Amino acid sequence: MQEPITLLALASYEKGHDFLREAKRQGARVLLLTSHSLQHEAQWPRESIDEIFYMPDHNKQWDSAQVLAAVSYVARREHIQRIVPLDDFDLETAAKLREHLRVPGMGETTTRYFRDKLAMRMRAHEAGIAVPDFVGVLNDNAANDFLERVPAPWLLKPRSMAGAIGIRKIHSKEEFWSWSDTLGDERSHYLLEQFVPGDICHVDSIVYENELLFACASAYGRPPLEVSHEGGIFTTRSVEYGSALEQVLLEANARVLPALGLLRGVSHTEFIRAHDTGRIYFLETAARVGGAHVADMVAAGTGINLWEEWAKLEVAGGKAPYSVPQHRMEHAGLLVSLARQEWPDTSHFNEPELVWRMQKRYHVGLLFQSPSHERVSQLLADYTLRVRDEFHASAPPKDRPTD
Ligand SMILES: Nc1ncnc2c1ncn2[C@@H]1O[C@H](COP(=O)(O)OP(=O)(O)O)[C@@H](O)[C@H]1O
Ligand SMILES: [Mg+2]
Repeated sequence: MQEPITLLALASYEKGHDFLREAKRQGARVLLLTSHSLQHEAQWPRESIDEIFYMPDHNKQWDSAQVLAAVSYVARREHIQRIVPLDDFDLETAAKLREHLRVPGMGETTTRYFRDKLAMRMRAHEAGIAVPDFVGVLNDNAANDFLERVPAPWLLKPRSMAGAIGIRKIHSKEEFWSWSDTLGDERSHYLLEQFVPGDICHVDSIVYENELLFACASAYGRPPLEVSHEGGIFTTRSVEYGSALEQVLLEANARVLPALGLLRGVSHTEFIRAHDTGRIYFLETAARVGGAHVADMVAAGTGINLWEEWAKLEVAGGKAPYSVPQHRMEHAGLLVSLARQEWPDTSHFNEPELVWRMQKRYHVGLLFQSPSHERVSQLLADYTLRVRDEFHASAPPKDRPTD
């Protein structure tokens, strides 16, 4: 019998339980490296994990030299053949470890296209994909030229999630230069781009050996930026199968992923459909399962669990064939809101299409599923009002975006 492969999962935050379970079901030896500060609170599926290692962390951030030393030490006795980052923050660490331990998978150069918003923008633009006009705030002349040429407002945003300030809307040159002073040496870690009013959409995909095998298009209700800055209720729902919007999103997605070079895994890629022209712009991508329960929504609509599929194809690792299981084409809609009540009681919400409720303190989360796109849209519209009346609470903007 073949020796089982050994897979090391990295999770600075608690996530990816389904991934770990499925990797175990696929026969892998599963190792997990996670943050020490999660040791007591995290509910890892221990029956599916052979060994857990804890990294000392500062607010879930790890020291990269320490990680390298720790994993190299583990590698003295474990033959690590796969390294998989479960959270977006772990992508660079995984790439660095792969390069150091010579483990196959995406290296640092490719990974950068999935983490650095400036790198992904430049690459997509070079490949002829429409993107909001942008500039890296590296060179003063280039920034000035952008401010002259591109009409306000603009967004100043961190190139990766580690920025000291979140996304800011900027209305004048003076405002930009004042932020530039505030940022000081941090400035080069930001990019500036045109604000394109529109609907924010996402396509969640499965890729194996650079081939796009599955893609599911969805559209957020209010733009995520408005929800995080102004508060409100987060919703997203499947785009209608066979619609013109679905077609243009899937086409754009099928151009973006090869341009950025995703080898194997899952991706969550976002687009803007401009209100004035209807044109589709590439917004950003990530080589991971979409956050905020997007994976649950994809599962409700299609029956495909992105975490499980990701585990299967990581274990297959390009050596064995992988194909996406048969799936259904139903529509699904997700609603998430902060709640005033610690454990909000939603038991009187009893539509037959309601297939899941979030169990989380001070949150209400509902997932609807129906063959009918119209029905899902109607349910989301109704429940947005009901949740607003009965439960909704607003909170100041979070430091960490909701993906
Ligand atoms: N160029 C843009 N034009 C209009 N809205 C944007 C633009 N860039 C970002 N946004 C808004 O900000 C949100 C977050 O931006 P994004 O680049 O996706 O970063 P992240 O999701 O990592 O915070 C988007 O979902 C969208 O609502
Ligand atoms: Mg985003």
